[in-house]
Amino acid sequence: MELKLWFSFLLLNVIYDVQSQSASKWIANMPTNIPVLQGSCVVIPCIYTYPKPTSKRILNRWKGFWMKGKTIVSTNIPKWKLTEEYKKRTQFLGKLQGRNCTMLLDAVRPTDVGPFYFRIEMPQYKSFSYPNTVTIDVKSNPEPPSMSVRVYDKVTASCSVTHSCPTILPRFSWSHPGSVSSRSKKLNTWQWETESTLTFVPQTTDSNMPLSCTVLYRGGKRAKSSIIISI
Ligand SMILES: *[C@@H]1O[C@H](CO)[C@@H](O)[C@H](O)[C@H]1NC(C)=O
Repeated sequence: MELKLWFSFLLLNVIYDVQSQSASKWIANMPTNIPVLQGSCVVIPCIYTYPKPTSKRILNRWKGFWMKGKTIVSTNIPKWKLTEEYKKRTQFLGKLQGRNCTMLLDAVRPTDVGPFYFRIEMPQYKSFSYPNTVTIDVKSNPEPPSMSVRVYDKVTASCSVTHSCPTILPRFSWSHPGSVSSRSKKLNTWQWETESTLTFVPQTTDSNMPLSCTVLYRGGKRAKSSIIISI
């Protein structure tokens, strides 16, 4: 066999193996650890697979549970009575039948470290608790935001933070008036960046004035950074 052909043959086999494996095993994919600011929220990304059932019975009434030990943290079952600890703080965001077990945990407490794991129950087939877990590294204080300033005819200042809560974004305030815009982007499966940009035309009185940006996170924590503008 020619070398090139041989390689593509190998490659095809590797791809095939990965696909057939993921479709025939109990695998849950989630980060092992997520840093989260106390009081804020976190969206725990999760997808799972299960072995294809041999019988052709229709699978319905699926139940998905996020667990901490024996405690149910979140479920897709509507009106399920959660314990006081997690009541109204979690939301099962994923479409369970779409192999998505993503969960939101809000108002994160110092005790919310986990480990959390996912369990699926398919009454016409099987139940399974996935062995991998996710822990949360609860931070009691936020980092100061990153700041940068450009001065031409106008002053353009940017202030940005990374966070885990895309549903309630951090809010920014500036020490100087001007026009403000903000944008967010996803950095990876569990982290977002939100940036605020301030633009204003500098006056001579603005020279050597500190410009500061304060960020207010979901849950009420604040952080601030300052920079001296030299004009
Ligand atoms: C899983 O569900 C969440 C919440 O709806 C969604 O944001 C995410 O994109 C989904 N993940 C995949 C891999 O489909």
